[in-house]
Amino acid sequence: MKVTVFGIGYVGLVQAAVLAEVGHDVVCVDVNAERVENLKNGIIPIYEPGLTPLVKSNYEAERLQFTTDAEFGVKHGKIQFIAVGTPPDEDGSADLQYVLAVAKTIATYMESPKIVVDKSTVPVGTADKVAECIAAVLKTRGVSLDFDVVSNPEFLKEGAAVADCQRPDRIVIGTDSAVAESKMRELYAPFNRNHEKLIVMDVRSAELTKYAANCMLATKISFMNEMANLAEKLGADIEKVRLGIGSDPRIGYHFIYPGCGYGGSCFPKDVQALVRTAEKVGYTPELLRSVEAVNGRQKEKLFSHLQSYFNGDLAGKRIALWGLSFKPNTDDMRDASSRVLMENLWAAGAIVQAYDPEAMNETQRIYGTRADLNLMGTKESALNGADALVVCTEWNAFKAPDFDLIKETLNHAVIFDGRNLYDPAILEAQGIAYYGIGRGRSVGA
Ligand SMILES: NC(=O)c1ccc[n+]([C@@H]2O[C@H](COP(=O)([O-])OP(=O)(O)OC[C@H]3O[C@@H](n4cnc5c(N)ncnc54)[C@H](O)[C@@H]3O)[C@@H](O)[C@H]2O)c1
Repeated sequence: MKVTVFGIGYVGLVQAAVLAEVGHDVVCVDVNAERVENLKNGIIPIYEPGLTPLVKSNYEAERLQFTTDAEFGVKHGKIQFIAVGTPPDEDGSADLQYVLAVAKTIATYMESPKIVVDKSTVPVGTADKVAECIAAVLKTRGVSLDFDVVSNPEFLKEGAAVADCQRPDRIVIGTDSAVAESKMRELYAPFNRNHEKLIVMDVRSAELTKYAANCMLATKISFMNEMANLAEKLGADIEKVRLGIGSDPRIGYHFIYPGCGYGGSCFPKDVQALVRTAEKVGYTPELLRSVEAVNGRQKEKLFSHLQSYFNGDLAGKRIALWGLSFKPNTDDMRDASSRVLMENLWAAGAIVQAYDPEAMNETQRIYGTRADLNLMGTKESALNGADALVVCTEWNAFKAPDFDLIKETLNHAVIFDGRNLYDPAILEAQGIAYYGIGRGRSVGA
């Protein structure tokens, strides 16, 4: 099928490549000319396992094209995906300007019936707005063309985005149109062979499903972080508690890891956006507000551990930081916990020596060159001359380090573990002070 994808970011590029791989003829349109040019030259703008070969092979096979030419893109696809960003605006609501700009573009150039698919995460009611926008432009053009607006939220996880798109748990389709449903079934048929994965519903329910999913996951994390903070005060070990509760099948082991807060491009903004949506319809979202507040506090946790350990005097201290991306297997730094930590450390006069397997270019892009940020070539070199080690992201490369080397190299043999990767008893036996999240003791205790 002929498909056009507007927005070549984490979602648009992965979705486009995966659709091309099964044989669809996909044109990707982006307003970022540099990104488009790079993609044509085989330079992939994001790190995502498995993505580079998939993009290159499908580009070479001419099933995947990249362009800034919106008119060409609109004329190409029967199905037009909108996969542009929906960042928070000043009050935390989802900013729909990019989504509506694409809707306008589609309406400006369409010459035949189209199925417009909202792939971006958008508040309930957005499909109606997209439809109104298209209808208004068609009216000013004086043409009458059929179109449907479908909600098809994306559930991929960064770090496993290609695998998630190739083998989705579910494909949610929000539409009241039989024609649109049948076209979407045809598009996704290659992904639906193992068992029925399409869940078809009305548009508003599909839009809310995406927010409900992310808010549920964020709630699980904030719940565990609240328990971890209690465990710390009560002398309990949250990792034992985690196993104790996860064994109940009604709770399960998935997504109940305590840590230094959730980040990324989705959970923080989606929780915020649903809070604003609720407020706008006169509902007080007590639980969601708490999920957000607990997470905000949790992102300060590592810094407050460090401050207590160094008695409030971090000026001139060198802190080794392992992990910058908001989670492993991505270079995405959006709302990463490491950023809150680094910015707090800098404000306190400390120097950061950081290492991340993939996110150092992105860190450089965001913060530029500064005297209190040293991006190091290896995790070992980040330890040189440092006063403490902090782990912010649970990359595999950090899971079994050489503790003897850490002890020998650091000025103070102390690890602050924001992801509970290590066993406190083993580290204590090696003479390394260890502070995790909710591991039974507070700093200084
Ligand atoms: N990143 C994720 O893990 C994830 C997962 C599920 C859903 N989502 C949702 O998907 C949407 C996209 O997220 P992302 O992380 O891929 O964003 P992104 O910022 O990585 O990419 C967005 C792209 O859209 C382009 N763009 C902006 N305006 C445009 C226009 N008028 N025409 C063409 N291109 C335009 C930008 O240049 C950019 O390349 C968001 O709504 C997000 O909430 C993201």
